[in-house]
Amino acid sequence: MANNHLLSSLFLVLSLAILVPSKASAVPAIFLLGDSMLDVGTNNFVNGSIARADFPRNGVDFPNSEPTGRFSNGYNVADFLAKLMGFNRSPEPYLSLPTPRPGFGDGSFQGVNFASGGSGLLNETGQIYVVVPMSEQVQQFRAVDNILTAVMGQESARKLVSQSLFVFSSGSNDIFAYFMRLANGLPVPTPAEFITSQITAYESYITELYNLGARKFGIISVGAIGCCPAQRALAINPDGGCLAIVNIFATTFNSELVTLLHNISSKLPGIKYSIGDMYTMTAHVIETPQDYNFTEVESACCGIGRYNAEEVCYIRSRLCQNRSDYLFWDQFHLTEAAAHLAADYLYHGNTTYATPVNFFQLVEDNHSTILLNT
Ligand SMILES: *[C@@H]1O[C@H](CO)[C@@H](O)[C@H](O)[C@H]1NC(C)=O
Ligand SMILES: *[C@@H]1O[C@H](CO)[C@@H](O)[C@H](O)[C@H]1NC(C)=O
Ligand SMILES: *[C@@H]1O[C@H](CO)[C@@H](O)[C@H](O)[C@H]1NC(C)=O
Ligand SMILES: *[C@@H]1O[C@H](CO)[C@@H](O)[C@H](O)[C@H]1NC(C)=O
Ligand SMILES: *[C@@H]1O[C@H](CO)[C@@H](O)[C@H](O)[C@H]1NC(C)=O
Ligand SMILES: *[C@@H]1O[C@H](CO)[C@@H](O)[C@H](O)[C@H]1NC(C)=O
Ligand SMILES: *[C@@H]1O[C@H](CO)[C@@H](O)[C@H](O)[C@H]1NC(C)=O
Repeated sequence: MANNHLLSSLFLVLSLAILVPSKASAVPAIFLLGDSMLDVGTNNFVNGSIARADFPRNGVDFPNSEPTGRFSNGYNVADFLAKLMGFNRSPEPYLSLPTPRPGFGDGSFQGVNFASGGSGLLNETGQIYVVVPMSEQVQQFRAVDNILTAVMGQESARKLVSQSLFVFSSGSNDIFAYFMRLANGLPVPTPAEFITSQITAYESYITELYNLGARKFGIISVGAIGCCPAQRALAINPDGGCLAIVNIFATTFNSELVTLLHNISSKLPGIKYSIGDMYTMTAHVIETPQDYNFTEVESACCGIGRYNAEEVCYIRSRLCQNRSDYLFWDQFHLTEAAAHLAADYLYHGNTTYATPVNFFQLVEDNHSTILLNT
């Protein structure tokens, strides 16, 4: 997708951007890859994609009630992490760059968001919805890296990339796709083979970015996805409880991910990482919602039917009044309030929520005023 028009537009935007020093932020830039937890509108620019959220009631609590493509009533985890690091919100989607938008053309290069809702670690995940797989997101970063190098010079570009934070959220959609295949009677690998294929893919992406100079990786693990409203609303789940088998896939994947990063860090000198335990966070909220100021952690805020989760959220859906009382916005996604909470725990949480360090500790040794033109 990185055609010449796109590259020259990006070149122009970056050329303008680096003339102006960025304001104080924890890192010079952030690059976000993965799925709908972080997507800020990528799929709006993917021809034929049906994994989109650029229509109401998405965005109902966003400034001007604008549906931006975020799968949320307002801002999402990408935005809140960016805010915690001193930016206004997430950088814009890579695919939006030919027409620079607020936040990108405002005088400072803040990074790029590649995340695509519905995508997974595996190429085939999300194909039926038409999304940008993680392997392609990594290639898109490669294109950005080439431009940074051309604009800033090799040394400054390497410095920028090494000091920037790479945020990942991926894995959930592969697991959903696995169970969808099972439900449809299609062949699937064994659970162990399947999770190994996810981990192997993750390793290749991290290694490729490391080889391009990335050093700081903030990784968000898979949440308690067996408890999301869409799973509670399934016909095979008359009790509406959490689907235990789906959660077991999530926790197995997450523990393999911890091992992977531990293994990788001895092979890749200088790598620093934090794994945010989204599973523990979501499970704790569901167990003791009152501790986190939520009153509804089972049903979706926007939807229809059982658990308000039998359809996607759209203009005719039933919409809850107090969005900040709800953990889930729609069938699968967190509300803005929940995204805010998750970002706070990723960034400042103790080792129950982020290991071996939190995102703040990951970025703090490079904090404040690293200007792009120095
Ligand atoms: C999407 O389709 C339009 C019109 O057909 C085309 O101009 C554009 O290049 C396509 N975008 C991508 C990313 O393929
Ligand atoms: C995913 O697709 C990319 C690009 O087509 C390819 O290079 C890569 O080998 C694929 N990965 C897997 C695990 O099939
Ligand atoms: C981690 O390394 C050990 C020892 O080399 C190996 O047996 C294991 O498969 C690796 N696991 C992952 C997830 O990388
Ligand atoms: C819950 O709300 C109270 C009162 O607004 C606030 O002090 C507290 O920090 C909130 N707790 C969480 C976990 O956000
Ligand atoms: C929304 O919150 C307000 C204040 O917390 C409360 O008075 C009201 O009953 C809530 N409405 C619903 C539908 O839960
Ligand atoms: C982290 O903080 C929570 C409360 O927010 C506490 O329950 C937990 O024990 C703490 N974990 C560690 C490892 O200190
Ligand atoms: C930024 O962090 C890297 C890796 O921890 C370190 O090598 C580098 O010296 C730091 N740069 C500054 C300007 O603090």
